[in-house]
Amino acid sequence: MASAAPAPAAPAADIPALKTYFAANFKIGMAADPSGYKNAIANPVILRHANSITGENCFKPASLGVSPGVYNWATADELAAFGAANGLGVRGHTLCWHSQTPDWFFTGTAAEVRARLETYISDVVTHFKGKVYCWDVVNECTSDDASSPYRNSKWFQLLGPDYIEIALRAARAADPDVKLFINDYGTEDPAKFSRLMTIVSALQARGAPLDGIGHQLHVSTTSPTAANVDNALRSVAAKGLINHVTELDISLYNDPGSCFASKTGCAADITGDATLLSAALKAQALQYRALFNVFKQHPSLQSVTTWGIADNSTWLSGFPTTRGNRPLLFDVAGQAKPAARAITDDAFVP
Ligand code: G3I
Repeated sequence: MASAAPAPAAPAADIPALKTYFAANFKIGMAADPSGYKNAIANPVILRHANSITGENCFKPASLGVSPGVYNWATADELAAFGAANGLGVRGHTLCWHSQTPDWFFTGTAAEVRARLETYISDVVTHFKGKVYCWDVVNECTSDDASSPYRNSKWFQLLGPDYIEIALRAARAADPDVKLFINDYGTEDPAKFSRLMTIVSALQARGAPLDGIGHQLHVSTTSPTAANVDNALRSVAAKGLINHVTELDISLYNDPGSCFASKTGCAADITGDATLLSAALKAQALQYRALFNVFKQHPSLQSVTTWGIADNSTWLSGFPTTRGNRPLLFDVAGQAKPAARAITDDAFVP
């Protein structure tokens, strides 16, 4: 009798399940749309390692808001059902953003724009009540320069700084229990973080319903310092707020500003060079370890999400330029990378 073929090894089974390893510290999340988590490489990874999921795009206004009062729930509902069926809490991302938001949100008088925003948030939060554990209510509201604490977005131009409080109050009115967040990138930069804290202080002074801060943490192998992240997490906790890390990835590249501004001077793709790639993955592993060592010191940090599942699919393959990148904990085949070992085994030398 022919012997049965050996069962394939479970992908990434050679490290502890991250959701178990970090259970005493925080949830482990991964971002994807259904097309991403149904991918044969990513699916076993998210099911084994995560207990939180963020819709990478399917909960955004451009996905849900067809026209005033008309919604396309199908893809986000599918993700919420996948989460419920597989023990993954759902982070709602995002209700109010200047990007990926249809133009119809921004037409008419300020009063009309405000009423439309309130209705949209009320409808969406009500629809997902009990199915998401938190919302990134307002995304990326902080200015990138010192001219103002507030990003000069369409929302800011139409409604002034009040739009943030309007959005938070509309979300709270629709669901008294869901946790409400402001989510932003660059909180690891002390100057930008200070501007965000100015916004937060103003909201708290007015009694706005804000529960937490989402730190996106799209970072690189050389920046930021762990100390900057530590300081940001501590400052948020000191304001009585929850911390979430919401979009963590660690790019292999350290591009100059010109790459982001004009696509010039971008670092060359190293993913085809085994020597350079190996060195970059070691540096990445050390950066992941440094960040997780900080994360573990903060009881206020309740959820850590990577912006993607495995390196087979990452927004960084197209940003800031089209180029191979390997920013996540699992490789293009869904296997644990040095970074995944570094955060689960203190003795591992990348
Ligand atoms: O769905 C369409 C598809 O029909 C079309 O054929 C294709 C052609 O380009 O585009 C598809 O939409 C793309 C969408 O991702 C889904 O793949 C959009 O062009 C593309 O712009 C969009 O990019 C998303 C980006 O947000 C938009 O700003 C990325 O996937 C997503 O990872 C990224 O996520 C953001 C967070 O929400 C906020 N923080 C930064 C983070 C990274 O930019």
